[in-house]
Amino acid sequence: MCVKLLFGQKLLIKNTNKKITETKGTMALNFISAAEAASYVKNGDNIGLSGFTPAGTAKAVTREIARIAEEEHAKGNPYQIGVFTGASTGDATDGVLANAHAIRYRAPYTTNKDFRKAVNSGEIHYNDIHLSQMAQELRYGFMGKVDTAIIEACEITEDGKIYLTAAGGISPTVCRLADKIIVELNSAQSPNLKYLHDVYEPLDPPYRREIPIYKPSDRIGSSYIQVDPKKIVGVVRTSKPDEARHFTAPDVLTDKIGQNVAEFLVADMKRGIIPSCFLPIQSGVGNIANAVLGGLGRDKTVPPFEMYTEVIQNSVIKLMEEGRIKFGSACSLTVTNDCLDEVTGNIDFFKDKIVLRQSEISNNPEIIRRLGVISINTAIEVDLYGNVNSTHVCGVKMMNGIGGSCDFTRNSYISIFTCPSTAKDGLISSIVPMVSHVDSTEHDVNIIVTEQGVADLRGKSPKQRAEAIIENCVHPDYKQILRDYLKLTNPKVQTPQNLAAALGMHVTFSKTGDMHLTNWADFVK
Ligand code: COA
Repeated sequence: MCVKLLFGQKLLIKNTNKKITETKGTMALNFISAAEAASYVKNGDNIGLSGFTPAGTAKAVTREIARIAEEEHAKGNPYQIGVFTGASTGDATDGVLANAHAIRYRAPYTTNKDFRKAVNSGEIHYNDIHLSQMAQELRYGFMGKVDTAIIEACEITEDGKIYLTAAGGISPTVCRLADKIIVELNSAQSPNLKYLHDVYEPLDPPYRREIPIYKPSDRIGSSYIQVDPKKIVGVVRTSKPDEARHFTAPDVLTDKIGQNVAEFLVADMKRGIIPSCFLPIQSGVGNIANAVLGGLGRDKTVPPFEMYTEVIQNSVIKLMEEGRIKFGSACSLTVTNDCLDEVTGNIDFFKDKIVLRQSEISNNPEIIRRLGVISINTAIEVDLYGNVNSTHVCGVKMMNGIGGSCDFTRNSYISIFTCPSTAKDGLISSIVPMVSHVDSTEHDVNIIVTEQGVADLRGKSPKQRAEAIIENCVHPDYKQILRDYLKLTNPKVQTPQNLAAALGMHVTFSKTGDMHLTNWADFVK
């Protein structure tokens, strides 16, 4: 069999395409300070980080890199680096590095407020790509070299076995591609986390084969990353918990959205579209997703279900304890610290219910389509035809990024987007004639859910979709405004739009701070 060996990889291929990486030799671990570790990172370098969301990411060395940047800038010297991650990180990475003006380039997803400011002021080149593609794009060489990998571990051995903490991310890829590896050995992370990992990196085309996951609980890799111990330039001892995000408590509105999603899914199950054993669920990030999943779990007409998802948030852990969620496959445990302690403290219960994978596996289109995942993500805005904007406010300002929303939406069995029908105390309608930026297209989006109701777009033409969305999802304050918009369009086309007025609600909002004031006559004089 012809096998292309990737740099630094020694492979045995079994007929399952499962890889076993072998390394020879051991090295005594070299414990160094975070400051010494940071000194290995030079101006112009690219660093690759462990973690996915603030879970499992570097926390100490990145702070020291920020300090070096500030010192160099004070001396009038340039110092900026590229940062490659699995997804968002925490303040100790994106926050401090952005504030130190130390980031030249960054991919993919982030959620940090200071980073967002730097992106929206044009300072950082931010490449917002699908999370499933990050590791492979690094391997393909699209983003340049990985100079240093900084990996958080709960355990490391002298023969180069690194046990990850709360996330799979892109760690095996950046470890293999990097010239140097720095390990943050974090005593605040429980060694029990090692029971949750399934480390696996696929081959690249033309040698890639099927990824042999046929149900969410299948394990196909190992519990650790095997690296060449000679590449580990130092191990930094840390004791820093994940910078867990606290969610806004569900409220009447998010509960109503959750209830609408649950009722829709039950109805689809009753008419046989969803099998009675149910299908795996993917649920997005943020307050709304957390609340929606809670609502879904509480609805006992939905049978206990599995998840094939990107992040496990607090609501999933609670539902596992209640027996409502049977299994969760994800890339990270993005939970509050008390919730993480609960998982690691009850590892005998959770180790058979959770698996943490690399983002290119948790979000892999092949597996999502095979398993028939039902995806539930959150939109910033949706248009009358079902195009979804998840990322840009008024078309230009980056919020966070697409994350894995499009990985799932495009490939799911049923793709659902949820959002409140209005934002900013009703001054913005989340349903607009034309989205100001497109992330998921009308061809991929099946269902829109707001607190007002559910628009089922499946099998509908654009004009039928517009009717379903206005009737079922739009806030009553904006229904007439959107109906009036349609009167400005020519119905004798495939997708009625009035190009002079299509972004009129956004233009009105940017001038007056209120979309209610949209006067279509201003746009079609
Ligand atoms: N126009 C302007 N701002 C809007 C808006 C709109 N149409 N819709 C929402 N917002 C603002 C909210 O007002 C809020 O602002 P604030 O932070 O100043 O309060 C912010 O966006 C977040 O909205 P919130 O209602 O709190 O929802 P959330 O925490 O669930 O986040 C997204 C919603 C869309 C930003 C978030 O889900 C996201 O980043 N999604 C993209 C990535 C993704 O889907 N990942 C999952 C893949 S597995």
